[in-house]
Amino acid sequence: MATRKLHLNVNLLHSGVYASAWRRPESDPHAGFDVGHYVNVARVAERGKFDAIFLADTPAITDRVDYRPIQSLEPTIVLASVAAATTHIGLIATASTTYNEPYNIARRFATLDHASGGRSGWNAVTTADAAAGRNFGLPAVLEHRARYDRAKEFVEVVHKLWDSWEDDAFVGDKASARFVDTGKVHAINHRGQYYSVDGPLNVPRSPQGRPVTVQAGGSGDGRDLAAAQADAVFTLAQSVEEGVAYARDLRARAVAYGRASDSIVILPGLATVIGSTEAEAKRRQDELWELVPIEYSLARLAGTLHVSPDRLELDKPLPDLPLPANANQTMFLGTVALARKDNLTVRQLLKALGGGVGHRFIIGTPEAIADDIETWFRAGAADGFNLMPDVLPTGLEVFVDEVVPLLQRRGIFRSEYEGRTLRDHFGLERPPSRYAKRAGAAIPA
Ligand SMILES: Cc1cc2nc3c(=O)[nH]c(=O)nc-3n(C[C@H](O)[C@H](O)[C@H](O)COP(=O)(O)O)c2cc1C
Repeated sequence: MATRKLHLNVNLLHSGVYASAWRRPESDPHAGFDVGHYVNVARVAERGKFDAIFLADTPAITDRVDYRPIQSLEPTIVLASVAAATTHIGLIATASTTYNEPYNIARRFATLDHASGGRSGWNAVTTADAAAGRNFGLPAVLEHRARYDRAKEFVEVVHKLWDSWEDDAFVGDKASARFVDTGKVHAINHRGQYYSVDGPLNVPRSPQGRPVTVQAGGSGDGRDLAAAQADAVFTLAQSVEEGVAYARDLRARAVAYGRASDSIVILPGLATVIGSTEAEAKRRQDELWELVPIEYSLARLAGTLHVSPDRLELDKPLPDLPLPANANQTMFLGTVALARKDNLTVRQLLKALGGGVGHRFIIGTPEAIADDIETWFRAGAADGFNLMPDVLPTGLEVFVDEVVPLLQRRGIFRSEYEGRTLRDHFGLERPPSRYAKRAGAAIPA
């Protein structure tokens, strides 16, 4: 049994996780719209032997673009450029299960897997933002449960399409004019509540068999989808105890679906502000914070909590708020947990959030950050982290130069890539095609 190794992704949020990152002297304000920036950050992550870079996405303007960068460029096209400029780093992009069709998503990520030699990953999200719905003729966000019911069938159809070619279907025999053995290319004939898809996919089976499937919702519905279909999950946890409880629950759900308990890689978000001393790190946090207009982060917090901003008094604790029916449950609960954990006033909470949405921040020296990561990893609260450096690329460069060597010396993080595919990096099996004929086995209808 291989020793358990830590996994590290970078969540490539345009100029950095801090809302004011683009205003730093060292930052290029245009970086978020520049494919070259993503290639550069990916190369830094690859130099640090990271597992993958991740591009979040929402098909709409969901933030105050008058003030800060937004998710903009289509992530799989950006990752295709990154693939051509890198050799090992995994390439994970978000694509919505509510505002796409399974056939198109299966084709896009299988193609990225071919283009990258097996490094593609799909973060399957249901998209909780109302603004996206209005770009697709939906006046409001679909109800939480309905979004996940649709997502479950959506992911199932994509997996079937990825399996629709057997590994050796391509023949390419010029002499016999046999290009493909069509006996090894299967219609999926999916008939479900939301989708009717004949297939097969028109892309041969990709290097990983199936690109990696990621899920990022911590609600009961989200966990059920992850337990049934995900290879990795992005989570949000504010304490080791919360991380351990989540991991135990998700692993039990996976076993209930007949999967191995360690078949899912659990990656909480971790935002970092690094300094050579704690005081320097705090000073850097203050500088970044002072560049965030408070009415902006107050409006953002009010959005996450589904309340009007004037219900949030800056120098008072958060009022007691009910969990909104159709909210982004993970972000709501994560934000409230952060406020209650340290009994923060709204003003202190806004600073702790850095103008963001509830992920855990660590402000400190490389040693302190390595200690924190090692504690969560050894406690089983995380298999690794979805890192969100304060400013990109500088915050990641410091992490790669200062923290990664500490993690390597402690024997918990790789010093060299052992494999080439994202599944190799995550320590995940290459799944067989469900349609591949096993001696004597009937082909499923
Ligand atoms: C690390 C992380 C990354 C996420 N990335 C995206 C994203 O790219 N696009 C998106 O619409 N939602 C994203 N989400 C939000 C989730 O898809 C989901 O809506 C949210 O976690 C709430 O899920 P829940 O209601 O099941 O708890 C992300 C969440 C996390 C924790």
